[in-house]
Amino acid sequence: MAAGNNAPRRGSEQFSTRHVTGLIVHSMTAMAATLTLAPDEALDETAFRLDFRSDTITQPTQAMREAMRTARVGDDVFSEDPSINALEARAAQIFGKEAALFVTSGTQGNLLALLSQTHPGEEVIAEAGAHMANSEVGGAARLGGLTVRTVVGRAGKISPEQVASTVRPENVHFARTTLLAVENTHNNAGGTILRAEEMDRLAETARSCGLKIHVDGARIFNAAIGLGVEPLRLARHADTLTFCLSKGLSAPVGSVLVGSNAVIDEARRYRKMIGGGMRQAGVLAAAGLVALDTGIDRLADDHRRARRLAEGLARVPRVSIDLASVQTNIVRFDIAGVGLSAAGLAEGFQQHGVRISGGPGTGVRMVAHRHIDDASVDLALEAMVSIAAKSSNS
Ligand SMILES: Cc1ncc(COP(=O)(O)O)c(C=O)c1O
Repeated sequence: MAAGNNAPRRGSEQFSTRHVTGLIVHSMTAMAATLTLAPDEALDETAFRLDFRSDTITQPTQAMREAMRTARVGDDVFSEDPSINALEARAAQIFGKEAALFVTSGTQGNLLALLSQTHPGEEVIAEAGAHMANSEVGGAARLGGLTVRTVVGRAGKISPEQVASTVRPENVHFARTTLLAVENTHNNAGGTILRAEEMDRLAETARSCGLKIHVDGARIFNAAIGLGVEPLRLARHADTLTFCLSKGLSAPVGSVLVGSNAVIDEARRYRKMIGGGMRQAGVLAAAGLVALDTGIDRLADDHRRARRLAEGLARVPRVSIDLASVQTNIVRFDIAGVGLSAAGLAEGFQQHGVRISGGPGTGVRMVAHRHIDDASVDLALEAMVSIAAKSSNS
């Protein structure tokens, strides 16, 4: 055999054992050293107090870490994980639905809602800025065989008239329109809330057109707290609703899809199909239960701080912000007048220790969450004033 054929191949048993074992052991030791923090270090959340990029960056609380450590678990593919079963029962009860399914992410929950309630070749309606239509990797088309028909709404909201005129009539040329997806709160529109009465009207039209209704409620608890209504009220017309545990509620992983027994049974099969059947994932559900116990009411603090931030930004010359759009924990504004892109502002903020997501455009998003306190807001505003002043002098 030629010498070259004996050369270890990447990924082969021979390569990994003979040639890199030492390296693996070495790097694993290094990893263990960096991953295992002293208890007080693990709880040091100050590193996140100027991170306005998203509420998804929130760290699990101490109570979550403890719940995860002690969680009772079982094989969830056999429906034998007591922590997941408890979380699903709780979620179903909160939203007044028969059943619930613990899923890996909001994206997975939304996709399963589509897969379990539509057929390939059909069409679903969503607002043009909806997460499902823009940021879920085209899963509806690739995996569901669906066309997502987008409609430009106002503040993220499609009107009943728009729904009625978008539904396709029965015609040999047309795909059948079978589902309306509603996002509440609406991320791209600035965390705007769809009020219960608005949903009533929308649902009435959707039903009269024979549509099913899915609510992408990634931040539905923000909507409920913002309105001062029970989450149940906002889910009244939804056949399915997804909510996220891992955003403002601070859990490390997971979302939940709620709906009827029949739809959730179907979604459970599709979850398995796409590789989302997890086993002893009760360690994650345990954190989710703590999130539901402790994370909801405190969202009001995030809303208050987002408001304070927005009002401060409105006072900065040449920053353009629609204060009416700031209804929950998300603040969107435009800095074209300041002569900067979001990427430029992100760079400027960095000098002050403040983190935002940059981009080529002039639209900026800042998000309040559990690690943002009043001082974080003050510091970000001071930084914004200084950056804007420098930019206008240059
Ligand atoms: C409105 C909305 N829906 C769905 C998602 C997707 O959630 P995940 O990141 O858990 O997949 C997000 C994420 O930010 C979102 O903002």
